[in-house]
Amino acid sequence: MKQMMRIVYVNGHFLPARQASISIFDRGLLFGDAVYEVTACLDGRLIDNAAHLERLSRSLDALGIDLPMSLSRIETIQCRLIADNELTDGIVYVQISRGTGERDFLWPEAITPNIIMFTQSKNLRSPPLADRGARVVTAPDIRWKRRDIKTTGLLAQSLAKAKAKEMGCDDAWLVESGYVTEGSSTNAFIVTAAGKLKTRALSEDILSGITRRAVLSIATRSQLEVEEAAFSVDEAMAAKEAFATGSSYFVLPVVEINSSQIGDGKPGPITNQIRQRYIELASLTL
Ligand code: PDD
Repeated sequence: MKQMMRIVYVNGHFLPARQASISIFDRGLLFGDAVYEVTACLDGRLIDNAAHLERLSRSLDALGIDLPMSLSRIETIQCRLIADNELTDGIVYVQISRGTGERDFLWPEAITPNIIMFTQSKNLRSPPLADRGARVVTAPDIRWKRRDIKTTGLLAQSLAKAKAKEMGCDDAWLVESGYVTEGSSTNAFIVTAAGKLKTRALSEDILSGITRRAVLSIATRSQLEVEEAAFSVDEAMAAKEAFATGSSYFVLPVVEINSSQIGDGKPGPITNQIRQRYIELASLTL
């Protein structure tokens, strides 16, 4: 079988992944001074990409990093990577760092951002985890206070996920002052005993998820009662249903929180319906 060469993008060049490189003085590498986006791709088409690029632009703005090229040029490169790598279902990753410079907390005035992009293939439509439902543990949210900016400083999330795995679970939901902020790489939702959909309101405490937004719009159109408010760990454990949203999971049912079964321990009907509707809409382009 023909082995495909993985093509990635670095600062103006499309290259085989093994030939791609970035300076060891890149500030993303040394200081986590970089932002990123992950856009899902179904049948070779980007899902909700305009919203991702708009958020990328907001993250850069918040850090005072210049956009190194237009958003439409970024999309053109994303599409070329999808074509070159023959990606059908998966994700396209975009990362922009402030640039390369001598290691110093302060950066020089004249600094040029570094931009890298690559694709990853992934079963997004029917991963086994979506059928079974995820087991989640809660963990203290030890991240910095500007979680609305999508920076590459993901160590706290990686450690929380690793801890969850060590405990035989699939993910961690992060908790601050007794309330769930979000999942390690997702937004967290519950369906209360009264059938109300609840997710934390947008603020600097969480990422403004693109999938979250689409799900809220689906829920409203489906006449579901929605409340954007923080919920406690106890509320989550007593919920009728729970799920997480994110570009690399879409809508992921949660069937257990801290060893406590949610509902009957299977993905709930409301969750399944929202997941199905999300995939239908994504296939038509959201
Ligand atoms: N993560 N919250 C956090 C902390 C996230 O890292 C993500 C996404 C989300 C969901 O956002 P969206 O629906 O826009 O993907 C919420 C990406 C997918 C990642 O880091 O791989």
